[in-house]
Amino acid sequence: MKKSIIVAGLAGLMALSMAGCGGGTSDGTTTAGSGSTGGSTSGYNLVPKDTNGDGVITIGFAQVGAESGWRTANTQSYKDYFVAANGFKLVFADANQDADKQKQDVRDLIAQGVEVIDLAPVTDSGWEPVLQEAKDAGIPLIISDRQLSVSDDLYLTYFGGNMEQEGKTAVQWLQDYIAANKITDPINIVHLQGTIGSTAQKGRTQALADAAPGLGWNIVFEQTGEFTQAKGQEVMESFLQQGKDFNVIYSENDDMTYGAIDALKAAGKDVESIIIISFDGNKSAVQMVIDGLIDVIAECDPLLGPQVGDLIKKAEAGQTIAKVTYSVEGFIDSTNATEKIKTAFGS
Ligand code: AHR
Repeated sequence: MKKSIIVAGLAGLMALSMAGCGGGTSDGTTTAGSGSTGGSTSGYNLVPKDTNGDGVITIGFAQVGAESGWRTANTQSYKDYFVAANGFKLVFADANQDADKQKQDVRDLIAQGVEVIDLAPVTDSGWEPVLQEAKDAGIPLIISDRQLSVSDDLYLTYFGGNMEQEGKTAVQWLQDYIAANKITDPINIVHLQGTIGSTAQKGRTQALADAAPGLGWNIVFEQTGEFTQAKGQEVMESFLQQGKDFNVIYSENDDMTYGAIDALKAAGKDVESIIIISFDGNKSAVQMVIDGLIDVIAECDPLLGPQVGDLIKKAEAGQTIAKVTYSVEGFIDSTNATEKIKTAFGS
């Protein structure tokens, strides 16, 4: 199949996508009280404050690792924002993509007596006891980046991406692209998954798994590339050695996409003839959209530091904050990449 440049009709998807996942959507509210036991609509009654009176709120940030360009930008946004000039001190813990280590990281932050914890979870299982320990210690806890399915009374608020919606945006884009270009060839998809058990992987995978059978799309290969470029390349190389037909790559982040493209080039494949779907929106990836290598990127915003800081300040001041707030996310394709690159994150 030769990739064509028809993109008419996809503009409607942009509006749909922005309406579906942007604009600070919320699905519940927490009323943060002005004291340490302020009222809550969800049974959660802790709010961040300067408990030791040193003039700043000490925030312990339990970060996933440094696996991707997205992650680097995310960490930097915390390091830039959570400084004394903004009324904060940052204690940073890097889990190195290890879910068990991260639970110990949070316990260490509790032992250090930080005044609020921000948890960006590697994976979504086994968190209840740790969150309960933070609550018992009187330390408010915020979940960011990757949502957790835990009881509302274990955390103050979630801020970050709506991962399943991002997947739905990508799936809808492909559906519209196939229709606009009158593609009748079988759709054979190589699916590169992120870290298994992370909600970023689960949501993006779920959207594809839900849609593919009904649309007659075949998933000819599915394996984790752990959100890294090296693993994305390795996994793509091993698939290419099987010699199977494919015409779409659904890669759950930009770094794995870079690796997959390197593997395609090394194997002498015509990269532009393959429909490549990616997630995140790093500047280099947006440039690859402009260059015709990547077809679409479902956006995921990493610049969460100031937005989380804003929520903390509102809660500290006794304002009502949403239990769940999703980042504003759309998609980037040939219709808007030259605009999007002006504000893209990273390098
Ligand atoms: O949770 C966000 C995901 O984690 C990003 O898509 C990926 O690049 C990162 O590693």
